[in-house]
Amino acid sequence: MKIYKTKDYDAMSRKAADIISAQIIMKPNCVLGLATGSTPVGAYRQLVEWYNQGVLDFSEVTTVNLDEYKGLPRDNDQSYYYFMNEHLFKKVNIDKSRTFLPDGMEADSETACRTYNEIIHATGGVDLQLLGLGHNGHIGFNEPDTSYAKETHCVTLSERTIQANMRFFASEQDVPRQAYTMGIKTIMSARSILVVVSGEDKAEIVKTAFFGPVTPQVPASILQFHSNVTLVADEGALSQCPALFHSAK
Ligand code: F6R
Repeated sequence: MKIYKTKDYDAMSRKAADIISAQIIMKPNCVLGLATGSTPVGAYRQLVEWYNQGVLDFSEVTTVNLDEYKGLPRDNDQSYYYFMNEHLFKKVNIDKSRTFLPDGMEADSETACRTYNEIIHATGGVDLQLLGLGHNGHIGFNEPDTSYAKETHCVTLSERTIQANMRFFASEQDVPRQAYTMGIKTIMSARSILVVVSGEDKAEIVKTAFFGPVTPQVPASILQFHSNVTLVADEGALSQCPALFHSAK
């Protein structure tokens, strides 16, 4: 695993955007696996800025997102579909017919997950998968004790994740209890993986996930077994880790 330590959130975002844009430049028709949440927002902002400067072209890029809440319509401002449009898709020249998320409004979980797996397989596989890291070590919505063998599946969110996501909703009752998520098997099939983490509140889980034992209790720990993972994290997030990393401007 390659680890880049950055001074702060902005530098982390810039470094992550560097890596994503390098992928797009090297392979204009690449497949990007994308994440939502607060951590990647700065990287998306930087990519949009470079697009506006004429440096980046998204016209041949395909995207598949990690996850989507079950039961939230696409026009709900907390749906991940809405998030991706707001932060990236509507701001760049991506072909919307090549941007994919699980269908949160498909009530039948089996249909929703099977359809999404077929979409991912049809892309030919993810070239670069972007991931954030949950406080409990989740990646996507793969919560502790998840099976490593699953592709897209329906999950019931843990209490900790519901609490963490509550900040985006009017009340705790409004936070959906279920979501569709790429499984660990899907994530591990990506040709390369980029994990972004910021803030001291994530320091403990960064140490546990990337320097502790590989265990389903810490879903992200499986990434230690992937051959092409880059972690870009700021000083706060890396504050409990041994000093084994590169510094990034
Ligand atoms: C987002 C996702 C989640 C987040 C994680 C970290 O699509 O699947 O795993 O990456 O919850 O969220 P933030 O970045 O808000 O701390």
